[in-house]
Amino acid sequence: MSERPLPPIERVLFSEEQIETRIAEVAAEIGARYAGKPLKLIGVLKGSVFFLTALARRLEIPVKVDFLAISSFSSKAGAPGLVRIAKDLDDSIEGEDVLLVEDIVDTGFTLRYLLQTLAARGPNSLAVCTFLDRTSKRLVQVPVDFRCFEIPDRFVVGYGLDYNQLLRNLNYVAVLKPDK
Ligand code: IMP
Ligand code: MG
Repeated sequence: MSERPLPPIERVLFSEEQIETRIAEVAAEIGARYAGKPLKLIGVLKGSVFFLTALARRLEIPVKVDFLAISSFSSKAGAPGLVRIAKDLDDSIEGEDVLLVEDIVDTGFTLRYLLQTLAARGPNSLAVCTFLDRTSKRLVQVPVDFRCFEIPDRFVVGYGLDYNQLLRNLNYVAVLKPDK
């Protein structure tokens, strides 16, 4: 299988140090909101894993973690927004305080679908924490309770975000040179 070469990195948007500082701040906000209550973090594979683990290590409340995977596809007409669960959670969330942890909220279609699906399972509460937020591209309104960074309308990689499955392991977030 031939793969396109990786485009070079144009610039670093958030350094490892900036990310760590910001995650600690957001973890403190979350800790204050849940005030010692157990919290279930739900990560969306694969992008959110890197952020979720960094966040979880900063939380001083008791946490559980679980994961699901989704696949997104376009309709024949090319409209975005069709999402399905490719790997479900291991455990029930009924009666639990749940924090859905995302790598990035873009159009909002993925998040809307996940919130509808999880809300139907009867959690005690359901909130959203995203690492990156690109509000300029939002097509459906979704609630974002906690977020680390707002980003411009450019494709980004690193800290979980991929380019053809590569570059998730960068410990910073970068903008790639446009693919021409
Ligand atoms: P949406 O909010 O439904 O549009 O979906 C957002 C999803 O698109 C994320 O979970 C990522 O998988 C992917 N995505 C959006 N923007 C970027 C980016 O800049 N870099 C890498 N993946 C992205
Ligand atoms: Mg994702």
